[in-house]
Amino acid sequence: MSSKIAVLGIFVADVVFRTERLPKLGETLIGRGFSLGPGGKGSNQAVAAARTGGDVHLLTKIADDPFGAMAHRIWADAGVCANLGDPRGEGTGAAGIFVLEDGGENAIVVCPSASGTISEADVEAWSDAITGAGLFLTQLEQPVRSTMRALELARSAGVTTIFNPAPAAPLPEGMLALCDYVTPNETELEQLAGVSCAQGPQEAGRGARILLKAGAGAVVATLGGKGALYCSPETEVHVPAFDAGKVVDTTGAGDAFNGAFAVALADGCSAVEAVRFGCAAGSISVTRPGTAPAMPDRDEVKALLE
Ligand code: RIB
Repeated sequence: MSSKIAVLGIFVADVVFRTERLPKLGETLIGRGFSLGPGGKGSNQAVAAARTGGDVHLLTKIADDPFGAMAHRIWADAGVCANLGDPRGEGTGAAGIFVLEDGGENAIVVCPSASGTISEADVEAWSDAITGAGLFLTQLEQPVRSTMRALELARSAGVTTIFNPAPAAPLPEGMLALCDYVTPNETELEQLAGVSCAQGPQEAGRGARILLKAGAGAVVATLGGKGALYCSPETEVHVPAFDAGKVVDTTGAGDAFNGAFAVALADGCSAVEAVRFGCAAGSISVTRPGTAPAMPDRDEVKALLE
């Protein structure tokens, strides 16, 4: 199998405010800090995969503007090769992110703008990159139909597929059956499975089995500080999170997990070993501020695993 990893997803600039609490409607709060950096789940996952040793092709759209320039810098730094489509006059998008000072939890509003114009025709134009990869990874920040078409192309070429259903949205009939691995967090699992999943591995297992019945090959539910649950038709394994230091910003932890998980699978690891590798990457990313810039490299992940 090819060890190339194709990632379909968005790039946006993350506009981050650190705050003691979220503002109420109509209220103004004085923040504790501000930063601007590269983000977007697809781009973050591509950066995480490249830093942990993957040969990564990102399929996305940005504009020729200052946020687009930020994208080129982070990809060049991480070693991500980008295949770019025509942004159709849209600017590069942005995400507004609140990060709580205490505990690093986050709330996000994302406007994909240029990346939001990724169409089924764009995906067809990228079909060689998708079908020539060993592994295909995507999320749900670009239109769902485009995502579905890419999964169809990957599946028809026998490429291993990982689908991170983030943010959760109603899925077209048959979409989960195109996925070898589906990787929701607790909130997304709850929305997709329609059952409560926030109490830990046992409840997550109930949600995961609903997605298996709907056709997913295996489900990896990421559970924040509780690690991840791997659930296939044959087995269910809980992998605890690693303690890599003080948690300062949980934004992008799922992206670190997905990128590193994809690399470990492309390296030939078993699914459970790949989940451990992904959990270690996620545990390191939360000890640093930001998303793409917080992604650990391969040596850091291996050191934590050892
Ligand atoms: O997963 C974190 C990412 O979600 C952020 O970088 C933000 O851009 C949103 O897309």
